[in-house]
Amino acid sequence: MRAMNDTQDWVTVAKRADLPAGQIKGVKIGKQEIALYNLDGEIYATDGVCTHAYANLADGYLDKGLIVCPLHAGCFDIKTGKAVEPPAEEDIKTYLVRVVGDDIQIAAA
Ligand code: FES
Repeated sequence: MRAMNDTQDWVTVAKRADLPAGQIKGVKIGKQEIALYNLDGEIYATDGVCTHAYANLADGYLDKGLIVCPLHAGCFDIKTGKAVEPPAEEDIKTYLVRVVGDDIQIAAA
């Protein structure tokens, strides 16, 4: 049931226990690829595909709050989605995340 002030549609995409600190996990909502990050216990989510060319960001690595693309090492800030290191120039989308019990949920709307 939706709370009165909750206008988001939340989708459970993973279990909290499956995403230890410092790890990245690729998930899907429909055809949408999403990368989940555990940065020092806080969970973040961005689009899972790099905006430079086709690379799965879940195959990259985290470096102080940046996701480093596995293909050409472009970097994005996982909190803002901002492209901060070339050749990545176009920002990636970020998603609202919440943890309910052991469920990681993303605002799909
Ligand atoms: Fe990600 Fe090129 S595909 S930087």
